[in-house]
Parts: sequence; C-alpha cells; structure tokens
Amino acid sequence: MELQFQIDTILILLIMLLFPIVKSQSVVNVPDIKPARDLDAVLEQYAFSAFVNPKTGVEYNGIVPKNLTGIKIAALRLRTGSLFTRGVSMYKEFRIPKGVIEQPYVQRLVFVYQNLGDRSEIYYHLPGYMYLAPVLGLLAYNGTDLSSENRPELEIQASDEPIYIDFGSVRPAPHGSKPMCVWIDLHGQVNFTSVVSGNRCSAFKQGHFSIVVKSKPVPPSSAPVSPQVPPATSEVVKPGKNGGIDSKIWVYVIYVAGGCVLLVLLAVLGLWICGYKKRKKTRKMERAAEGGEPLHMTMIGGMKAPAAMVTRTQPTLETEYVP
Ligand SMILES: *[C@@H]1O[C@H](CO)[C@@H](O)[C@H](O)[C@H]1NC(C)=O
Ligand SMILES: *[C@@H]1O[C@H](CO)[C@@H](O)[C@H](O)[C@H]1NC(C)=O
Ligand SMILES: *[C@@H]1O[C@H](CO)[C@@H](O)[C@H](O)[C@H]1NC(C)=O
Repeated sequence: MELQFQIDTILILLIMLLFPIVKSQSVVNVPDIKPARDLDAVLEQYAFSAFVNPKTGVEYNGIVPKNLTGIKIAALRLRTGSLFTRGVSMYKEFRIPKGVIEQPYVQRLVFVYQNLGDRSEIYYHLPGYMYLAPVLGLLAYNGTDLSSENRPELEIQASDEPIYIDFGSVRPAPHGSKPMCVWIDLHGQVNFTSVVSGNRCSAFKQGHFSIVVKSKPVPPSSAPVSPQVPPATSEVVKPGKNGGIDSKIWVYVIYVAGGCVLLVLLAVLGLWICGYKKRKKTRKMERAAEGGEPLHMTMIGGMKAPAAMVTRTQPTLETEYVP
C-alpha cells in the first residue's frame, strides 16, 4: 500500500502543477451561441431583401426590423472569380484581399455585413471581457440565385494576405489593460490576436470580430498608480508596438517553467521506481541467500510449526505498477 500511496501523491502533485498550464490553454467559447446564430439567419433575410436589381460589386444597406434597431446590415454580391483575383478594397470596415476562396464553390456569393452596435454584448457576451468596439460580422452566402430560400453559409478562407478590419475609433481601454482583437467563429469559439496599430484586426475566415479588454485588469501592486498620471484623453486606443507580446512571453515562461518542473518530477518518479525495483530485488536476493525469510512460528501441540502470515507480499502491486 505504501507504493500506491506514494504514486497517488506524485500524480496529484503533477495534476496540480499542470492545472495552470491546462487552464491557460483552454478554449474560450461564447456561453450560448444559439441566439446569435438565430440572429444571423434573421439578418441574412433582411440583408438579402436590400437587393433590388442589384449590381455586382455594389454594397446595399439593409433595414432591420424594429425589434433589432441599432443593428446595421449590408449586402454585397460578387462573382467569385473577381473576388479571388481582385478582392474588395473596402466593404464597410473590411478590406478583403485577393486570394479569398469559398467552400463549397459557387459562381456568385453574397457577403452579409453586420454591425451589432449596442447589442454586441447581448449576443456575444464574453464573461470576463469588455467590448471596446461593436461586434462586426462578415458572413458569406451562395449568391447565385437571390430568390432561393435555402442559402447555407459558405466557408471563406484568405490565403496569403489576411482580411483586415479597421475599427477606427474605439472606446479607450481602462488604464493598465491591453486591448485584444477577438474573432468568434460560427460555432462560438473565440480566438484572441493582438491589435495592429490603428485599431486594426486581421482574420483569415468569416465570423464576428471586435476589440476587447479583460474586464478586471489587475493593477500592478508593486508600482501603485500615481494620481498625477494624466488620464488618457484620446478617444482612439493606440496600443504599443509590443502589445500582445508581453502576455505571450508570460505564457511561454509559464509553459517553460511548468515543463521543467514536470521533467524534474518525472525524473524523480522514474528514479524512485527504479530504486524501488532494485531494493525489492536485493531484498529478494538476500532472502534467497539466507534460505528464505524467517517464518513465523506457532506452537501446535507442543511442536513449533510455521504459520503463514496474512500479508507477506503484495502481488497485485507488481502487476499493476511495475512495467
Ligand atoms: C424580430 O422581428 C423579426 C420579424 O418580425 C423576427 O423574425 C425576429 O425573430 C425578431 N427577433 C427578435 C430577436 O425578437
Ligand atoms: C448555389 O445556388 C445555386 C442556385 O440556387 C445552386 O444551383 C447551387 O447548387 C448552389 N451551390 C451550393 C454550393 O449550394
Ligand atoms: C487562433 O489564431 C491563431 C493565429 O491565426 C492560430 O494560430 C490559432 O490556431 C487560432 N486558434 C484557433 C482555436 O482557431
């Protein structure tokens, strides 16, 4: 039982040490993507109804139903051939490079644009984060037959150059917090990347985009914030060139430190198991040399006789734990 106890202890220690690493790798998701997906379907209908004898390559602003006031939508129809060879220099906040391909292939596609405005937080609530910009959506649909009722979404993928999203003016970040670009895919999975100067984000796929900060920034305790520091007056957040790098370095530091501790522990565990086997072997050999381990004697009818002990060896341990 001693062996099992020690291995259990070491395993628990390992799990405790690994936990912070596992946690920092965990995938962030929008808690409930269903309402947002239903909204996508409604906005698609309203965006498509903005097309009246539409010209290819011209953006049409749609009108949303009253219950969704504050949301802006638009639709843009393109030949996929020209999308691939030329891209779209400006579609609202989006700059679509050449080389974008859609999946499955269609002859014409429609890009539906969404700006969720004040409703961003409602549909794309991210616990622990605060939006500094509205959530913008770029979704692609089969635009071959505009009267078709059934239009599944298309996957789009930029190849060389990314799609850029220029957010322009965004709300200033709270002091000490670092703005991050956020991309939410159609399944509600969230991916953070760093903000490029000028409040620009880059993306390779369709989905919803914004700029966020962690909602509870931890003030640096070693250097208390002096009240003389002038508050940020600019409306536009200008993240430093190395924005996003600091946190990456910390993640690497945690990985490397965690990895080292793990290696040391594994080494200790390995050595310990080897030592245990060796000790067991030596003990066995010693016993063999002495002609067996001393047997416990009992008095049976005036004669001394050997009596078996209940627990002498633990055969299960060997089969279970020693490879
Ligand atoms: C808003 O109204 C439209 C049309 O009446 C409806 O299809 C949609 O489900 C409504 N959306 C919400 C969020 O209530
Ligand atoms: C796109 O729409 C056209 C016309 O409705 C249809 O023939 C075609 O199969 C659709 N393509 C895909 C990939 O859904
Ligand atoms: C997030 O984006 C980065 C950079 O584009 C990429 O390497 C990573 O695989 C993405 N993660 C997910 C979960 O899509």
